[in-house]
Amino acid sequence: MKIEPAASIEGAIAVPGVKGISQRAVLLGAIGDGESRIVGFGRAADTETAVSVVRQLGADVDDDGSETIRVRGVGLRGLRVPEGPLDFGNAGTVLRLTAGILAGQEGRFELVGDESLSSRPQERIAEPLREMGARVETTEGHAPVVIEGGGLKAIRYETPMASAQVKSAVLLAGLLAEGGATRVVERTATRDHTERLLRELGVPVTRRGAEISLSPVERLPPVDVRIAGDFSSAAPFVVAATLLSGSELLVQSVNVNPTRTGLLDVLERMGANIAIFNRRSEGGEPVADLEVRSAPLTATQVDADEVPRLIDELPLVALAAAMARGETVVRGAAELRVKETDRIETVTTSLKALGVRIAASDDGFRVRGVPTRPKGGGMGSFGDHRLAMLGAIAGLVSREGVRLEDAEAVAISFPGFFDLLESVTQR
Ligand code: S3P
Repeated sequence: MKIEPAASIEGAIAVPGVKGISQRAVLLGAIGDGESRIVGFGRAADTETAVSVVRQLGADVDDDGSETIRVRGVGLRGLRVPEGPLDFGNAGTVLRLTAGILAGQEGRFELVGDESLSSRPQERIAEPLREMGARVETTEGHAPVVIEGGGLKAIRYETPMASAQVKSAVLLAGLLAEGGATRVVERTATRDHTERLLRELGVPVTRRGAEISLSPVERLPPVDVRIAGDFSSAAPFVVAATLLSGSELLVQSVNVNPTRTGLLDVLERMGANIAIFNRRSEGGEPVADLEVRSAPLTATQVDADEVPRLIDELPLVALAAAMARGETVVRGAAELRVKETDRIETVTTSLKALGVRIAASDDGFRVRGVPTRPKGGGMGSFGDHRLAMLGAIAGLVSREGVRLEDAEAVAISFPGFFDLLESVTQR
């Protein structure tokens, strides 16, 4: 696909529902009692994976392709062992969260994924789930993962890395554990969608300092939730509108959970012009509208404490930094190396090929920015949806455009991405 340079971004958009909440709602709906209703389901390959997985585990899902789906729950301990292995495709969040739930179910479950997912570390969930009493085997640290669940006991677990997926796996297992509250301690706060959704369902989840505590329950009520737009899907548009002078973009009804919106803080430090208004609450989550106007940027620094709040947006930070005056440094982001691709590697090699002065470090990157458009050229997504979106925005802000290979990877989180982008692009 060739992405031609753009003049500006103009118009109003809304993006699909938060991927991580859509997935969590389906998983919790499957172990609830009765019929769950999920409105604003963020349709994408990764959320469809959650649907296919719970179906394989015995939950019925009514899905007519619209943005409302219904899940008929089988109860907290009612999941059944499927005939074959459970296939998680590219969806790391679904695999890790499902592992937490399966750790408390009777039976033997085999969890597999695609090539990218099979290269990502799984001992990070296997270890605490074993400590809780489940039998968990990984394949040299990776998928296939085999879980023989049941008989869990509550633990206190300090996560060795900042990971909402690990935290969530332990908390979900904690729903089914005996012996009091399961506690997770995280040194740096990560996204709290699991905690918020559980609280909506009446599960006692509390946070004191760095420690999150969850008490087990007898049963879960059905989920009834409306999901606002995914900030990570809005982010490429926000960055494009910031970088292209003369832009004016309205993003309607987007989730602005503070554990997710680190990009807004970073862009604001760099001089961006973004207004957040119409703040409201939906389904226990903060929601707002955003208005973005273009602005000249200056370099900034991003450190470990801030990283989890914009982990999936760091590729876009690299692009914004390329057009900001001065040197931007991102540190403490080694987790990027174990995403859908090694994003330190894929982001730096891709942007370099487009004429950006960027260098990788062990745990981040540095960018020497200049307030002009990068040249452009060719790059591939490596099958990574965030890389495909990065390439698209890089094309718009470049002088000569970007030839993007494997652009269809956007469908992992946002199948309508290119159509929506085209609808607000002025050439
Ligand atoms: C996610 C957590 C993050 C993030 C991923 C989605 C989630 O991963 O990168 O895209 O929904 O919990 P980690 O928790 O492993 O950092």
